[in-house]
Amino acid sequence: MDSGLENVVAAETVLSDVDGKAGRLIIRGWPVEELSARFGFEAALHMLWQPFFPELGSVADVQAQLGKARAAAFEHVGSIVGGQGILSSLRTGWSLLQDDESLEAAIALPAAAGVFLASAVRAARGLQPIAPDPDLPHAADVLRMMRGEAASPAEVKAFEAYLVTVSDHGLNASTFAARVIASTRAGLVSAALGGVSALKGPLHGGAPGPVLDMLDEIGEPSRAEAWIDAALARKARLMGFGHRVYRVRDPRADALKAAVARLPGTTGRIEFAEHIETAVLGKLAAKYPDRALETNVEFYTAILLEALEIPREAFTAVFAQGRCLGWVAHAREQIDEGRLVRPKSIYTGPVLEAA
Ligand code: ACO
Repeated sequence: MDSGLENVVAAETVLSDVDGKAGRLIIRGWPVEELSARFGFEAALHMLWQPFFPELGSVADVQAQLGKARAAAFEHVGSIVGGQGILSSLRTGWSLLQDDESLEAAIALPAAAGVFLASAVRAARGLQPIAPDPDLPHAADVLRMMRGEAASPAEVKAFEAYLVTVSDHGLNASTFAARVIASTRAGLVSAALGGVSALKGPLHGGAPGPVLDMLDEIGEPSRAEAWIDAALARKARLMGFGHRVYRVRDPRADALKAAVARLPGTTGRIEFAEHIETAVLGKLAAKYPDRALETNVEFYTAILLEALEIPREAFTAVFAQGRCLGWVAHAREQIDEGRLVRPKSIYTGPVLEAA
């Protein structure tokens, strides 16, 4: 019995490889640092999906299909936005999409994610949704729909670096959930809905908002040690640290830190974050000398998304915007595998005698 399944191999994949000892992440052959610096959103989608959708066309075709699907998704905005959180708006919106295993269903997921999350961010600010511009690259249009004005090229590049960096990561909890659902042949939208629901948890994709809460509560470098001691004493988990697979620093942390550093005006915030990071790592090493607990992807995700003026309530939905590329590819890979996922359990309850 292996309750966290860490020693269970449940899939063969051509998509990504996480080497937790070396601190290396490969996505479709590319080290994540290279991918993050070189690939835009459409190119990453193309690379991840092409083996499963030969009809996908070129990267330019992907941009056109995403634009068209954003326009279609905007028709649903009136039904989803209002009174619910940003991630719930995304889930509600996705649940209205056509649910099958086609390319059309697949493309609608990232396209609609951008529309629904931008509209939900605006609704939370009491603002009306902004219609998509189908001719723009996806990431640029999502930032524009969220803000009401065009983001700078540097901001779009940083946003794309984030989305691409988190696009896939082996058999993490949300991807495994998506593959289990896909194995039942429920459809790609159902698989993505399962993925996003798993992502919501603070032990998975819900961490970066609380990372900023932690930085806010610490407030200034001199308060860091006392704050961390108090948090560890009450057995709190320090968000943005530790990982099930990595025993060294998560390579995505530095890819994202580099992306934030390329944005103007972020030096002071990065220095503060580095100070807190060093303090946390020191305290975790002292408390868990036999368990390497290092910085994970979520720590610099928080700093990057904050620099892009994305509200922390939207962070998990923004993560889903990137990760849904991986969910769809894994779902299709699982469908091709053709085997229903159905592990065993050991019954530890009673057996009642009939009266
Ligand atoms: N802060 C404080 N203590 C921690 C942390 C942390 N961030 N991470 C692990 N520990 C402690 C555990 O409580 C455990 O202590 P115990 O033996 O006294 O109970 C010990 O370290 C060993 O824990 P692990 O076996 O390494 O933890 P596990 O593999 O189950 O969990 C996880 C990994 C969930 C990521 C954990 O490190 C954590 O909760 N981190 C904070 C949340 C976070 O950053 N999540 C994002 C992960 S990245 C992603 O999913 C995209």
